[in-house]
Amino acid sequence: MKRVYIDRIPSTQDFIEDYVKECKKKREDLIIFAEEQTRGRGTKGRSFSSLKGGVYFSFVMFHSNFRVKDVFNITKQFSMAIVKTLYEFGVDAKIKWPNDIYCQDKKICGMLIKNAFDGDYVDYTIAGIGININNPIPDELKDIAISTKEILGKELELDKIYERIVHNINSWKHYGLYADYSLLLGRTIKIIDQKGNEEIDVAEAILPDGRLKLKSNRILTAEEVSIKL
Ligand code: BTN
Repeated sequence: MKRVYIDRIPSTQDFIEDYVKECKKKREDLIIFAEEQTRGRGTKGRSFSSLKGGVYFSFVMFHSNFRVKDVFNITKQFSMAIVKTLYEFGVDAKIKWPNDIYCQDKKICGMLIKNAFDGDYVDYTIAGIGININNPIPDELKDIAISTKEILGKELELDKIYERIVHNINSWKHYGLYADYSLLLGRTIKIIDQKGNEEIDVAEAILPDGRLKLKSNRILTAEEVSIKL
């Protein structure tokens, strides 16, 4: 996987999306790491705080023979790669369905994953991942976000993290472990729909297609709800 490092950029996600638009025919995987982003993008149109000291990157991965029916395995692969990387640096992490990474019940990493399809196959995936490492957490996020620096009481070397991330996203395909590292399974959770209505239920299972099954038998997709602990 070809790598690009940059100190400051509006958003690595915009960069990689432009790269794919222009160079799709080459089918060459690329990853870009930025030291800081001035317009980091989050899920559901939100912004993503991207101060210096964190790890911010986006990549495109072209697939061959990857069936659409298995598409949630991509989310499992990337989530587990980040969990594994954090463990390698001494940080216990869990996955908050579908692909947020949490430590001590606070968010340490967020992910955007976009798949492009070609018939029954997944053609390529664009993913953007931000991890709180040595960066300060803005005051307004302190109740819900955490960094490795706060957990470990020391700074980590970003270059070493970049190395392990590239290795783990390309090699760690133990999809079965995703449920073992789930933050939500077995827990009582608050489900908030797009109109702001709240319900309490218990997270029971993550289905092979990536939907969340609740104890009440209700089945949720990640797009239609947000979950609070
Ligand atoms: C979320 O949890 O809301 C998703 C956050 C994704 C942030 C990453 S940081 C690297 C890449 N570039 C962006 O602008 N966003 C993603």
